[in-house]
Amino acid sequence: MEKMWAGRFLSALDRQADDFNSSIHFDSKMVKEDIEGSLAHAAMLAARGIITEADRDAITDGLLAIREDILSGKLPIDPAAEDVHMFVEAELTHRIGEIGKRLHTARSRNDQVALDLRMYLRNEAKEIRSSLLALIGVICDQAEANTDAIMPGYTHLQRAQPVTFAHHLLAYAMMFIRDVGRLDDAVKRMNFSPLGSCALAGTTYPTDREMVARALGFDGITQNSMDGVSDRDFCAELLSVCSIIMMHLSRFSEEIILWSSWEFGFVELSDAYTTGSSIMPQKKNSDMAELVRGKTGRVYGDLIGTLTMLKGLPLAYNKDMQEDKESVFDGVETVQKCLSIFAPMLATMKVKKDHMRQAACAGFINATDLADYLTKKGMPFRSAYKIVGGIVAACIASGHTLETLPLETYRTYSELFESDLFEEISLDTCVKKRISAGSTGPDSVAAQIAYVRAYLA
Ligand code: ARG
Repeated sequence: MEKMWAGRFLSALDRQADDFNSSIHFDSKMVKEDIEGSLAHAAMLAARGIITEADRDAITDGLLAIREDILSGKLPIDPAAEDVHMFVEAELTHRIGEIGKRLHTARSRNDQVALDLRMYLRNEAKEIRSSLLALIGVICDQAEANTDAIMPGYTHLQRAQPVTFAHHLLAYAMMFIRDVGRLDDAVKRMNFSPLGSCALAGTTYPTDREMVARALGFDGITQNSMDGVSDRDFCAELLSVCSIIMMHLSRFSEEIILWSSWEFGFVELSDAYTTGSSIMPQKKNSDMAELVRGKTGRVYGDLIGTLTMLKGLPLAYNKDMQEDKESVFDGVETVQKCLSIFAPMLATMKVKKDHMRQAACAGFINATDLADYLTKKGMPFRSAYKIVGGIVAACIASGHTLETLPLETYRTYSELFESDLFEEISLDTCVKKRISAGSTGPDSVAAQIAYVRAYLA
């Protein structure tokens, strides 16, 4: 196919260079946006008297027919086209002749690609947003079903204090709620139309950029044409949001993998979201969670690749920027896939409440509460902390737990100990007595569930 720009050249582009230069095999994803942008551009050109209304109508009909033929599969994307923009324009000219060549007036591929990408990505962001909301809903359902499941809360992966599984899960709901906010922020900054920036310096035609921006659902236009064509902050920003989402999914995955192990045995994933081993008959592997954890690295790579590609680029457009698309497409698609597998995996996960409780019974998880018991009876917390440390050490030496150590022994450490201490350090009391806002106590957990439900509504 002869290049659009062949006029200035004496000989054709080398075959291999042509392949190297081409982006059609990945940017054809944006064909719908490209056509939508062209429709709005043609309408504006006619409204401003830059092309005639008859030309606009011919261009519009041509573009609509092309769109229909692509969507129905009648018109395959031509892999020989340099990129999606050239493909649509060439096809239009092929269909409607000379008039098709008027479409590219007061426009460049530089502002065109920036426009298409913003339109494509704001839509992807919308889809990620609804997947996040669906996941938050699933987390909330699981939390509601597990307000009575007491488990060890960990720090340093050492048993620390008892919490409910509901409370633990709701921590993730809060993370994903923040992610929705981050997405919204990113879209807010992305949603300005660069079209009309042209190659870099704007144009001598009396265009109406606002008209195009309104028609395409943007909140306004970019204010500087050089920035308009060279800005890819919106890619980096969306990828950083994607990276944070993946980081959250990865931490959650890691916990699910741990909880599914024989050693923990806190949960069991559904057969539908686990796989077996080719050699070890007993195995039930949490491959989905592992893949989500693994794909996190890939999305971070997309972000770092994009930032590195942009670093050091002089203004305005440079071909380096064609490399933006594969990274950002991969990033948003990976997040989308991970979210859509994670939600049903979590929804079908069985919780083994008795195993959780057993784990919470061991490991002196109520030692803080024992210290609080003395503190409430008047002893300064630091002194109480020290005494309880001594008791724990003695228990370990003698094979006792805080529950089985006799009262007489307790009283050798402090006269303040009385028989009510056992009630005070029971697991249920430890959880119930957590009354501070945001804590694992039942009122606080109910408030968190209500908060998440209200957010979703
Ligand atoms: N395929 C190109 C890209 O994705 C479109 C812009 C081409 N502009 C140019 N001046 N060569 O960046």
